[in-house]
Amino acid sequence: MANNLPMIMGIGYAVPSKVVTNNDLTSLYDTSDEWIYSRTGIKERRVFASDDEAFELLRQACNQAVKNAGLDVNDIDLIIAATSMPVQLMPSTSCMVQKLLNISRNIPAFDISVACSGFVYGLDIANAYIRSGVYKNILLVTMDNCSRYIDWTDRRTSILFGDGIGAAVISAGNENDILAIDIKADGHVGDYIKMPVEKGNCPFVDKTPTPQVLDMKGQEVYKFVANIIPPYIIEDILGKNNIKAENVEYLILHQANQRIIKAVQERLGYDDSKVISNIENLGNTSASSILIATGEAIKNGNVKTPAKAIVCGFGAGMCWGAGVIRLRDGVFRKENIFQK
Ligand code: COA
Repeated sequence: MANNLPMIMGIGYAVPSKVVTNNDLTSLYDTSDEWIYSRTGIKERRVFASDDEAFELLRQACNQAVKNAGLDVNDIDLIIAATSMPVQLMPSTSCMVQKLLNISRNIPAFDISVACSGFVYGLDIANAYIRSGVYKNILLVTMDNCSRYIDWTDRRTSILFGDGIGAAVISAGNENDILAIDIKADGHVGDYIKMPVEKGNCPFVDKTPTPQVLDMKGQEVYKFVANIIPPYIIEDILGKNNIKAENVEYLILHQANQRIIKAVQERLGYDDSKVISNIENLGNTSASSILIATGEAIKNGNVKTPAKAIVCGFGAGMCWGAGVIRLRDGVFRKENIFQK
């Protein structure tokens, strides 16, 4: 019997306690709860109150995923962190995880930078490593500290994003939980969402200060995503893998905009009970949004396991990817929430 199939054994998530409501944003610029909610579906988002809090929540989310997987932290043999807006560039987020979890072995740890596609890209990498027999227990972490990189004077972008963390353990076993997966990118439209690194550090070159904040062409992003997601990502992956949409119980899309989620829902012909959305309370948590939405939905009883789910992420790069995964019983257990 095959023993190198990817099994999603545990997931975890954590969100900060500090809430920023739409009404709070009205103190920064001319906007309103009505404008933001009607265009995005967002009412509030969370932000890390400090780096210490961010790392403590990172530790908790990872411990939760490992515990849900029924493993010890020292069973993990690879850490991948998907983060494009990290708390710090060095040490990497994945190496921070190794330290925060007190992992005593010198296992490999690396970060990937694919913005809001982080979970699906990370899953694709884990899938390949598990199937090839290279690693047995992979901890995939998603973490974006969006509030650190957003231009809080820009009402077109700062309304959208929030902070959060997700974690998943993918283990080698004899059941397949990644039924389909595909990732893609188109760097030619990279300027739709960009973040320049500040110039002016080296005294021998250009000293023009450049703000290091997220810059987004909202309308272009919206059109790009609306044009590619339903037909070229989700329907393509279902078709290539002979999976019928009606045989998949849930749609867990990257939480970027409620209007995008609704459009995909309509195209798939899904009723509301099949579509997981938490954007109203958390905004767009970038790489983490799919894992947070999944964990929350299992916790609240909106996803009943075992079940299959379409997952799909998209964002800066532009990068995107989709998969059909199996959410097994016990992948998220309430009793393991925020284990210290
Ligand atoms: N409050 C009030 N008015 C606002 C506003 C705000 N927060 N943000 C923009 N406006 C104004 C603009 O100034 C503009 O006014 P003008 O015509 O007088 O200049 C008008 O609203 C329309 O601006 P526009 O940027 O065209 O808005 P939009 O309808 O495209 O909505 C987004 C903006 C960001 C909600 C929308 O483009 C979007 O959701 N894009 C996708 C972004 C996304 O998902 N990114 C993440 C991908 S991972």
